[in-house]
Amino acid sequence: MNTLLAQVTDLHIRAPGQLAYGRLDTAPYLSAALSTLMRMPQKPDAVILTGDLTDFGQPSEYAHLAELLGRLDLPFYLMPGNHDDRKNLRAAFPAHGYLGSKGFIQYIIQVRDLRIIAIDTTEPGLSSGRLCAARLQWLQDALASDTSVPTVLALHHPPFKTLIGPMDEIGLLEGVEELEAIVAGHPNVKRVICGHLHRTIYTGFAGIVASTAPSPAHQVCLDFGTDADSAWNLEPPGFHLHVWNRQGFLLTHAVPVGQFEGPYPYL
Ligand SMILES: [Fe+2]
Repeated sequence: MNTLLAQVTDLHIRAPGQLAYGRLDTAPYLSAALSTLMRMPQKPDAVILTGDLTDFGQPSEYAHLAELLGRLDLPFYLMPGNHDDRKNLRAAFPAHGYLGSKGFIQYIIQVRDLRIIAIDTTEPGLSSGRLCAARLQWLQDALASDTSVPTVLALHHPPFKTLIGPMDEIGLLEGVEELEAIVAGHPNVKRVICGHLHRTIYTGFAGIVASTAPSPAHQVCLDFGTDADSAWNLEPPGFHLHVWNRQGFLLTHAVPVGQFEGPYPYL
C-alpha cells in the first residue's frame, strides 16, 4: 500500500478577525485547504505543516490555529517557520509531545514505512534561516540511527536559491553546504521538502529532488527581476501530496484548494 504524506505550509494564521498584511483573512483559506484534504478519495496517512503556522507567533494566533485544526481528522505534525515562536507554539499544542519542551523543534516521525525528519531552520528575530553545527549534528545522528529506511527531510527554509530575490535574501543562509554533504552521504534520503516560498518549486539538491509547496492562502509573486518587490498575491492556493510508492523516488502531486466543476466522464 502507498504511504501518503500531505504537506501544508505557510498558513500565517492571525487572531480571529485580524488580517494578515492588513488585507487577508487567512483562516478561511486554511479551512478550505482542510476541507480539500478531507475530501480526497485517498486519505493521507499524515499531514506535515512546514512552518509559518502563524503570522506573528502570538498565543492568540496559536489558539486560533488549534481551533481551526481541531476538525482535521488526520494525524498532523507542526514545524516552526520564521514567523513562529517555539515557546508559544509548544504551549498551544501540549498533546504534541514530539515538539519537545525546549530548544530547537526537531523530531523524527514514522508514517507507515516512510520516515520524516523535521529540522528547525529558524532563528528567533530573523526572517532568514540557519543550520548551525548543533542542528546538523542532530541530523547526522538521526540519519545514522537507520541508514536504510526511506526518509524525507522537512525544513522551513529551502536550501537552494529560487531567483526570487527578496526571498533568497531571507533564505537558508548558513549550513547549506554541510546539509548537502549529509544528504549526499545518505542514499535513503529521498526528498527535501520545504516551505517559506509560498510556491511550488522543484530543483536538484545533493543528487535528489528538493521542493517547496504553495500556501493554502497567499503566494509569493513570481518575479526574477533584480528590482522585484517583496510581494504576495492571490494565485490559486494549494498543498502537496507526497507519495511513497516503493519505486525508489517520492512521487508528488500538487493539489489546488477549492471545489471545481466536474468530474465529467471522458466520453
Ligand atoms: Fe510564509
